[in-house]
Amino acid sequence: MLKTKDILDEKDKRLKVISKEVEFPLTNKDKELINTMIEYLHDSQIEELSEKYDLRPGMGMSAIQLGVAKRYFVVVHEIEEGKFDTYILINPRIISNSMEKIYVEEGEGCLSVNRPVEGIVPRYARVTMEAYDIEGRKINVRAREELAICFQHELDHLNGILFTDRIDKKNPFKDKDKYRAI
Ligand code: NI
Repeated sequence: MLKTKDILDEKDKRLKVISKEVEFPLTNKDKELINTMIEYLHDSQIEELSEKYDLRPGMGMSAIQLGVAKRYFVVVHEIEEGKFDTYILINPRIISNSMEKIYVEEGEGCLSVNRPVEGIVPRYARVTMEAYDIEGRKINVRAREELAICFQHELDHLNGILFTDRIDKKNPFKDKDKYRAI
């Protein structure tokens, strides 16, 4: 079982690495890692379990956050109380996006950033990503609002970018009125 301490902290240089494309078939190790990530994200969003196992709540995780520089991430999205949709995106890329941009009003969070960070991270309100599933089949996934932000945040991880890198250092709330808060 994955522990919170297994997740790389923002100070770790490995988070700056550009992850490499995954080749198919996936190794058993990668499949196991994916299952471990799903389990962590799922349990972390259930209060009883997150307290019991001392998990930090999160909805997305990229392989590089566990030190594996491969281009895949997992998202476990709570659609209603206790009900989750799970996404596994391998070698993902954005194939279309909205013009509209949004940001998380309370600030984005990241399992690798263990402190509150204020500021605006502009993200597309809607994206379509092309990726591969665990069997190596090509998939298209559409996301909007919170889920779209999460996908873009995770894709950034694969390119060595943290959300904190996207906040204007001098003026964290720069261009606030250009984007919609969610
Ligand atoms: Ni993150």
